[in-house]
Order: sequence, then C-alpha cells, then structure tokens
Amino acid sequence: MTTSNPEQFKVATRQAWEKSAGGWNSQTRHIHAWLAEATEAMLDSARISSGMRVLDIAAGAGDQTLDVARRVGPGGHVLATDISETILQFAKDNAQQAGLLHVETRVADAEGLNAVEASFDAAVCRLGLMFCPAPLKALQQAHRAVRPGGYVSVLVFSEPQNNPCIGILMSTALKHAGVPPRDPFQPGSLLSLGKPGLLDELFRQAGFEDVSTARVSAPFRLNSAADYLTFVRTSASPIMQILGMLDQQAQAAAWAEMEEKLRTFQSPEGWEGPNELLLACGMRPVTD
Ligand SMILES: C[S@@+](CC[C@H](N)C(=O)[O-])C[C@H]1O[C@@H](n2cnc3c(N)ncnc32)[C@H](O)[C@@H]1O
Repeated sequence: MTTSNPEQFKVATRQAWEKSAGGWNSQTRHIHAWLAEATEAMLDSARISSGMRVLDIAAGAGDQTLDVARRVGPGGHVLATDISETILQFAKDNAQQAGLLHVETRVADAEGLNAVEASFDAAVCRLGLMFCPAPLKALQQAHRAVRPGGYVSVLVFSEPQNNPCIGILMSTALKHAGVPPRDPFQPGSLLSLGKPGLLDELFRQAGFEDVSTARVSAPFRLNSAADYLTFVRTSASPIMQILGMLDQQAQAAAWAEMEEKLRTFQSPEGWEGPNELLLACGMRPVTD
C-alpha cells in the first residue's frame, strides 16, 4: 500500500482497522500497560485538567480516551474521533461501561475533521498521526479545533534503530514476500514521523508555537515473543497487509522466522521489546 493516491490509501487504512477493531480492543489490557507512562506524559503536555473539553484524534478502541475522560471529570467533555466506525464503537462501549458519560464519539478522518473552530481546550492523538498520508493537514485541523492558547499533543514511533521489533517484523515480512526493502519513513507508514526534526517542522508549519518534541521510552513487556506476535496479528499492522500476499504455508514460515528473531528480547523475567516514541506538542498562538 502506498500513498500515491491518498484517498485510496485511507480507504485501505479504514478497511484494515475495521477488520482489526475487535483484535485491537481485545489487546487493551496489554496496550494500556505498554503505553501508560507515555499517555500520562501526553496528557500532561497537552495541559489537560479538570473541566476541559478535549478532542481525541484516531482514538481507536478508546484506551487513552478513558484516561482523558477521567482527568477532565464529569464537568469536562471528550470527543473521540476515528476513521473506523467499528473501532470507535468499542471506544463508545468502553466509555459507557466505565460510566464515563461525558465521552462522545464521531467518525472522522483526522485530515478532514471540520471541527467547530476553537471548540476544544486541547487535543491529543496517540499512535494515529503517522498513518495519515498528509500529517500536516491533520495538524492544521487540530490547530483549528483548539482555542487560542490550547495545546495539541501527539505520540508516534521514533526512528527505526530505536524500534528494532518493528524493523524485524518489516524486513522479515518483505523478505518472505519477495519485496525489496522500503523507505522506513514512507508517508503513512508506522515509522513515517520518526525522522528527527520532522514533527517539530510539521507543528510549526501548521501554525503552532511553543513546539517541543521529547523521546519517551516505551518497552513492550509480555510473557513471550509469541504473545507479541499475537498482538501484531490482531492489529492492522502493515505486516498483515504484506503477509496477506502469501499463501498459508509461506505466511507460517514468515511468522516462525519473526518469532525466532524476536526471542533475542526474551529473558528469565519475560519478553521485553524496546520501543521509543516521540511526544510532540505545540500551542495555538494566543493571538490567533
Ligand atoms: C494504532 S491505532 C491507535 C488507536 C488508539 N489511539 C490507541 O492508542 O490505542 C491507530 C488508529 O488510527 C486510526 N486512523 C488511521 N488513519 C486515520 C485517519 N486518517 N483519520 C482518523 N483515524 C485514523 C485507525 O482507525 C486506528 O484506530
């Protein structure tokens, strides 16, 4: 899948997440533990506090939406948006089950949110912006949605060398599919916003001030490499799309090789896959 036709790319992204929605939701416990510290840092950098109105972009099954909703309290409001209706339904159900009635959901492409101008105090986007073929458009939409003085904060993966598991998955999948290595920073891909300096530049171009990016270590701790591959299988990872080109036997061979390589991260205490995220934020100028 390439971004030469952004609209087709987004249709494919939506379809992939529609299919993987249940799988991603079923992994919520692991995802929550994996991203707990990074999520707290994201909410802090967006200056989210009691009573605020917050926009959650590419909210998925709503794990971070619930964190935001708890932080703003019943006097606040959270709008969770996502391109996939099915995954957003999980976010809605999860919020209801948690008794968080001040959460609303709306299906929307991050690049075409069309939110009412300045209608939110802050916006967040956890592991979603990198899937946008035109991330600048998405940041411009977020910029428009927050009030002057409001912050937008996002989490994405950093460079390939600091996310070795993604590299192992991708190179093994491509090798088995007989496809040449790809540019890891290809727009719309998992690591597309990991290029040093790129996010800051995009935030500035979108009109933000007080822009900063910090590295956040987010190791993924599970029992085994096999558990990590279960997580990958249940997500709409590009790995699934690449392996989808192969027959069952060839897929099984690719998974087996990935598991063997990923065992490097096994220790007597369990499996710990290194991951590094970038936490970027910026403020809509007060004078806007
Ligand atoms: C890795 S999941 C992250 C979900 C959630 N934020 C979390 O951290 O658990 C990526 C999400 O981005 C959504 N997404 C991908 N492209 C999008 C776009 N252009 N606009 C809105 N959402 C998008 C997918 O549907 C999916 O729910």
